[in-house]
Amino acid sequence: MTQFNGKTKICYDENAMEVLETLPAKHALLVTDPFMVKTGFSKRIVSHLERANIAYTIFGNVEPDPSLNTVKQGILAMDDATDLIITLGGGSAIDTAKAILYFTHKAAPGAKKPILVAIPTTAGTGSEVTAFSVVSDTEKGIKLPLVDELMIPDIAILDARFTRTVPASVTAATGMDVLTHAIEAYTARKANAFTDLYAEQAIKYVFKYLARSYSCGDDMVAREKMLLASCMAGMAFNNAGLGIGHSIAHALGGAFHIPHGKANALVLPHAIRFNTFDAGDKYRSIAALLGLPSATIDEGVSSLIHGIDWLNKQMEIPTRVKDLGVDPAEFSAAVPTMAAHALEDPCTEGTPRQPSISDLKTILEQLY
Ligand SMILES: NC(=O)c1ccc[n+]([C@@H]2O[C@H](COP(=O)([O-])OP(=O)(O)OC[C@H]3O[C@@H](n4cnc5c(N)ncnc54)[C@H](O)[C@@H]3O)[C@@H](O)[C@H]2O)c1
Ligand SMILES: [Zn+2]
Repeated sequence: MTQFNGKTKICYDENAMEVLETLPAKHALLVTDPFMVKTGFSKRIVSHLERANIAYTIFGNVEPDPSLNTVKQGILAMDDATDLIITLGGGSAIDTAKAILYFTHKAAPGAKKPILVAIPTTAGTGSEVTAFSVVSDTEKGIKLPLVDELMIPDIAILDARFTRTVPASVTAATGMDVLTHAIEAYTARKANAFTDLYAEQAIKYVFKYLARSYSCGDDMVAREKMLLASCMAGMAFNNAGLGIGHSIAHALGGAFHIPHGKANALVLPHAIRFNTFDAGDKYRSIAALLGLPSATIDEGVSSLIHGIDWLNKQMEIPTRVKDLGVDPAEFSAAVPTMAAHALEDPCTEGTPRQPSISDLKTILEQLY
């Protein structure tokens, strides 16, 4: 069966936050990170809750690449009265809130599920519309992707003003995450007519607006379009799946703490080369969509890879693991484990060309 689930109500523009005043809730848990608390961004949420007479508790301790331990602390901040979870932040805060919901629901499946509202401040993971949450098991040094429709937010609020303060390097990395979501969704096994539409628009926006957001963080047109692109790419991959780009990026991120978007930017051209035999025509279509030379599959694939390299270069994103300060001996020693984790990663299921463990080792070695 081919299907498309567009469950989340998406509210966007400068008035979108007003939806918070319409929610049938009495007690909210706000899950966010220390930056949002320190800068007062979280107060913007609180002022809407106060206007709607909704009591609240703030859990503001989320770190980048949140650990299971942080999720446990967040669960402790909840109480029986919590009927609304609002999350403000990048993928880390949103994923923490989703994991809190996931584990509390598993512990008490009969209990009423709180409403989940996600407000992304990066563009981004698209986590505001997906069934995924990525948490780190710091003891094992791995990222655990949880997948359950229960975690798809009920409401996403896209207000680009929250993304204005994102530092250039984070804009670059998170923007390449958007591109990787869109390209992997477009070529994934479950891609369909609907997911293609979202992925295509996201890819067009990234190539038009990402370098602009990077070079001028105050360019609010570019910021807004990137926030939409992030959400659209999320809609696409939530339905179509992803691919080995993400599987390898998760393994790399778990082993060497490379930010997720940076890892994706580095892996994406390699994943495309590997998949070309099975997905070449789709890569050619993307190049054509972008107005790049694409008369043949080879030309289209090579144009697309050049386009990605160009974006990485514009935003000074390293294209090799060795440029990230990772020790060569440590990297070589970790290759077999990373390859095994990448093979087991749920994203591998969606990839157009099934890799063997030795294919993944070869790609990882090429990344260095
Ligand atoms: N759930 C999904 O579908 C999905 C998809 C992709 C990635 N992820 C996961 O999401 C996490 C990464 O999320 P991310 O890339 O959004 O980064 P992040 O949430 O980790 O944030 C990165 C840094 O940017 C800061 N930041 C965020 N918004 C800011 C703002 N508006 N102004 C200034 N600073 C700001 C944060 O405080 C943090 O220090 C990873 O754990 C990754 O594995 C999840
Ligand atoms: Zn991602």
